[in-house]
Amino acid sequence: MEFAELVMKRRTVRRFRDGRVEREILEKIARLAQHVPSAGFSQGQRLVVVTDREQRRRVAETCGERFYADLGMGSWISDCAAQFIPCVSEEIYHRRYQEPDKLGADGQEADWPTPYWWIDIGKTSMVVMLAAHDAGLAAGFAGPQDIPALKAILGLPDEFHPIGVIPVGRPLPDVRSASLRRGWVPFEEFARWERW
Ligand SMILES: Cc1cc2nc3c(=O)[nH]c(=O)nc-3n(C[C@H](O)[C@H](O)[C@H](O)COP(=O)(O)O)c2cc1C
Repeated sequence: MEFAELVMKRRTVRRFRDGRVEREILEKIARLAQHVPSAGFSQGQRLVVVTDREQRRRVAETCGERFYADLGMGSWISDCAAQFIPCVSEEIYHRRYQEPDKLGADGQEADWPTPYWWIDIGKTSMVVMLAAHDAGLAAGFAGPQDIPALKAILGLPDEFHPIGVIPVGRPLPDVRSASLRRGWVPFEEFARWERW
């Protein structure tokens, strides 16, 4: 798919057809998502891909799936082909920025005016969603409400933080988010030329 079309046509989808997606396709999405830039090439991002039905159900529970079901949206977080769960370790960034080539003139680690680990895992997430769309699939995004439970279910090492659950599958017509009524910020407000 052409890049502009891919970006413009991607939508958050919250209902998926029953049925599995080939491992090869899921792996292609994961491989593409690995290839995003990271600060100092720290590569603190990881992906956990969950396909097992019972494990998907457990993961979905930590995102309050019942709340969505009560809104008539169905169990879209578990009824998908796979859940992609982007995780990031802030510690990996600190370790990387304590290496000699990253220390400041004062011999100290940067004081991180912007926490780059959140930026990098956001890019990983975006590539998962775009790669899913490019593969003829669709993706949603559910914010976890019980992070300790999600970490325990996935067996994550303590330093990794799961930022969300991205259900991926073959799309069905769904209930659109009420947030979309907000419309887009005008382009002129979003993009400024030369200065604000
Ligand atoms: C960081 C992030 C968190 C989100 N959390 C949720 C969520 O918890 N539940 C949900 O239904 N959608 C969630 N969304 C999806 C947004 O509502 C959606 O991206 C937005 O309404 C724009 O719609 P679009 O993706 O179709 O363009 C989230 C999206 C992002 C980027």
